[in-house]
Amino acid sequence: MKYHLPLTHPLLQTVDISVTLSGLKILDEVSIGIPEGSVTGLIGPNGAGKTTVFNVISGFVKPDSGKVKFDGKRLRHIKTHQLTKMGISRTLQGVGLFPSMSALENVMLGASVQARSGIVSNALAMPWVDAQQRRIREHAEAVMAELGVLEDAHRFPGDVPYPVQKRIALARALVSDPKVLLLDEPAGGISAGDMADLGRLIRSWVPERTVLLVEHHMELVMGVCDLIWVLDAGKVIAAGSPEEVRNDPAVLAAYLGEEVDV
Ligand SMILES: Nc1ncnc2c1ncn2[C@@H]1O[C@H](COP(=O)(O)OP(=O)(O)OP(=O)(O)O)[C@@H](O)[C@H]1O
Ligand SMILES: [Mg+2]
Repeated sequence: MKYHLPLTHPLLQTVDISVTLSGLKILDEVSIGIPEGSVTGLIGPNGAGKTTVFNVISGFVKPDSGKVKFDGKRLRHIKTHQLTKMGISRTLQGVGLFPSMSALENVMLGASVQARSGIVSNALAMPWVDAQQRRIREHAEAVMAELGVLEDAHRFPGDVPYPVQKRIALARALVSDPKVLLLDEPAGGISAGDMADLGRLIRSWVPERTVLLVEHHMELVMGVCDLIWVLDAGKVIAAGSPEEVRNDPAVLAAYLGEEVDV
């Protein structure tokens, strides 16, 4: 059975996305919608295909069939820097920071201008810094301050605690001032206190930004999401409010044996 949920204003949408990797069907006609101004969750057991959905949306993985629509328009052959320019930004599962660049340099990489002109590397190598380069740096610093990691600006990712690395990665995603943020397990490896802060932070972005959140921590998902899609073995098996999803027998069955408190 295919799951359909009527959506009034999906800003971002996958329509019947199917993906085969190494001969295995990873996604099977996955249709999800992310209403504008919402925090929308995408949950499911390990290996369900959540990251693959992100990879399709961001153009890392080409689907066998189906389409991705953003703001009513079909996205085709998207490259990462084009995504940033369109106002879509993502974090990677884990951290995904460049280990040999400082935290600040990593965050500056998230600015869309950089992706086109290599301007950050110029800024870092040259004794002079023109107005545009300075603006990128100042903005990156402001976003890092907002996320409480400015004091780590000149440290390397490997030299700061894991939760700080996660925040630096968030800052990199935010620095382009995206309309849509795709967050792949932002709470992985962080403490309960940090998670509560993260929940407040995510809610503070809407409705100006729209968030798609992949997360295993159910208390975070249930606490911050307006709408949740549930994926299991490459198929959407449920969708609805946190309350609806929490009590859905198909969801409980999918999570059977997993160490999560749905
Ligand atoms: N390049 C690939 N080739 C073959 N199989 C792959 C490839 N990438 C992912 N897979 C498989 O596709 C399935 C979905 O992977 P995906 O990473 O999307 O799951 P996920 O829901 O994000 O899981 P997790 O919660 O563990 O992050 C898994 O079974 C995975 O092993
Ligand atoms: Mg994943």
